[in-house]
Amino acid sequence: MKYRNRVAVVTGAGSGIGRALTIALAADGARVAASDIDAAGLAATSAACAPGSVATYHLDVADRAAVRAHAEQVRADLGPASMLFNNAGVDLMAEIESMEPADLDWLFGINFGGVVNGTTAFLPQLIEAGSADRPARLINLSSAFGLIAVPAQGAYCASKFAVRGLTETLRQEMIMNDRPVTVHCVHPGVVKTNFGKNMRTSAEDAEVARTLFDKAALTTPERTARTILRGVDRGKARILVGPDGRIAAALPRLLGVSYTTLLARGSRVTSRRRTANPPSVEERNPL
Ligand SMILES: NC(=O)c1ccc[n+]([C@@H]2O[C@H](COP(=O)([O-])OP(=O)(O)OC[C@H]3O[C@@H](n4cnc5c(N)ncnc54)[C@H](O)[C@@H]3O)[C@@H](O)[C@H]2O)c1
Repeated sequence: MKYRNRVAVVTGAGSGIGRALTIALAADGARVAASDIDAAGLAATSAACAPGSVATYHLDVADRAAVRAHAEQVRADLGPASMLFNNAGVDLMAEIESMEPADLDWLFGINFGGVVNGTTAFLPQLIEAGSADRPARLINLSSAFGLIAVPAQGAYCASKFAVRGLTETLRQEMIMNDRPVTVHCVHPGVVKTNFGKNMRTSAEDAEVARTLFDKAALTTPERTARTILRGVDRGKARILVGPDGRIAAALPRLLGVSYTTLLARGSRVTSRRRTANPPSVEERNPL
């Protein structure tokens, strides 16, 4: 029971990585405050955990006042949080030339605004709950695309680079100010969750884009949760998930910014092949 007496806060807990984190934390003794905008998904997560181990909250992480009120509610219900997973996130597939600015605002409000809101609302509780022997943990979900930029993911990459910048700054400030809080930035490659299905896209064929996303997934959410929790236990500042997460970290180290030319050429070839050989009906409807 590694997380006994821990109050763990997980946003976006109604699906995918957030659900797998909630289940793993609850199984190992934590009392989990699980939140999402999707009530049905959240209920399913709670049902997969032992009775009484998870408290559920309807929450839009982009709503700053609601996140502040949520932090107070969690403290009242469970006590001060000692683990925070800022996990809720969304995707937008659109080239910058044709991107709707309103879509970028929507994505930034959740992916970056949500992390800022969660971090600032819960930081006082984490500082209060942590100690030198048992530090509190703050974990922010960035992405492999917070390490490298790729075509048609401009808004998403920008938001996840921003999460990395905020997280790496906060880590330094916690160390500098002797705060009992360790800070971790997570960079998964493509994980098989509902992320592709929930994506907004201006691509001509949204279904094909989502199918390709699912096909690219190399890691399960359960494996991702295990990698995250192991990385946190070991105090790792940067937690890479999956072979594609590790490749994303290596590319700019090996090639500098020239990796962008390489990826652009690769994407051009792939998109030409796709135009010449459009996916079959089976590929469009894998189920
Ligand atoms: N799946 C991947 O390939 C992948 C790769 C790298 C990073 N990530 C990141 O991991 C995190 C979790 O994604 P996932 O793959 O589990 O996706 P998912 O779509 O399966 O789950 C995301 C959850 O966030 C919730 N959510 C969306 N908007 C919200 C809002 N405004 N407020 C509260 N909850 C909201 C959704 O309802 C959903 O339950 C995201 O931050 C994502 O960017 C995912």
